[in-house]
Amino acid sequence: MSETEQTTGGAADAAPLTASAQEAMAELARQRVEYDDADLDLPAETPHGIFTGWYEDAGRTLGEPNAMVVATAADAGPAARIVLLKGFDARGFVFYTNYLSAKGRQIEAHPRVALVFPWHDMQRQVRVRGIATRVTAQESDDYFAIRPRGSQLGAAASDQSQPIRDREEFHARVRELEDRFADRDVERPEHWGGYRVAPYEIEFWQGRRNRMHDRYLFTSRDGSPAALDEAAEWSAVRLQP
Ligand SMILES: Cc1cc2nc3c(=O)[nH]c(=O)nc-3n(C[C@H](O)[C@H](O)[C@H](O)COP(=O)(O)O)c2cc1C
Repeated sequence: MSETEQTTGGAADAAPLTASAQEAMAELARQRVEYDDADLDLPAETPHGIFTGWYEDAGRTLGEPNAMVVATAADAGPAARIVLLKGFDARGFVFYTNYLSAKGRQIEAHPRVALVFPWHDMQRQVRVRGIATRVTAQESDDYFAIRPRGSQLGAAASDQSQPIRDREEFHARVRELEDRFADRDVERPEHWGGYRVAPYEIEFWQGRRNRMHDRYLFTSRDGSPAALDEAAEWSAVRLQP
């Protein structure tokens, strides 16, 4: 049997797993990266200052430091996916999406969300819990305007999270929009825009040797979202690994 013929007995139409892929899966439990002995050296006293410092570090090391996981609550259970951070200030974290997508509908029904910045290549992660609200139409317009024209057309053409027959159907929609906006700026669809996640909890995690990781959790004193640059609004506690 050739390497590609060995299968794991999955669905009949699934691509067979190669022997080396099967070996990689078998090795998962033994895989282990040893972390450095870095102490959680907080570069500032407020969550705003710390995130800004860590983000700067991440920008020097990682390809896409603004990629973050957004987890939402849905009736069928939680859902998570990656989006790109497009704004950060003392009010919170901003990303852009389609308000009618699965995540958009979930956020409208359950505005409490969680974010994770998976900066494991630098032995760090930042975890956030907060409340998502739509940014103003002006903010969405301003951001939409600086996107490349191709991304504007893609966003306008996509009924995000809805099924589509094939790629050609989608390309036909893009061509239709290209014609409609041939000699003018692409209009931002009303259902496309930003969410700002205003945190009431934010945790900074630093990996350390022997899994003795350092964790520092900020919780808003009154349990509701607070300004990230106001130290007095937050209580901070070190957590066990
Ligand atoms: C690196 C990366 C960045 C992404 N950035 C965004 C984004 O900024 N906004 C967005 O709506 N989807 C983004 N996506 C796609 C989402 O992960 C997801 O597939 C899409 O938003 C549909 O999610 P939903 O069906 O849960 O609404 C990104 C995916 C990846 C892998």
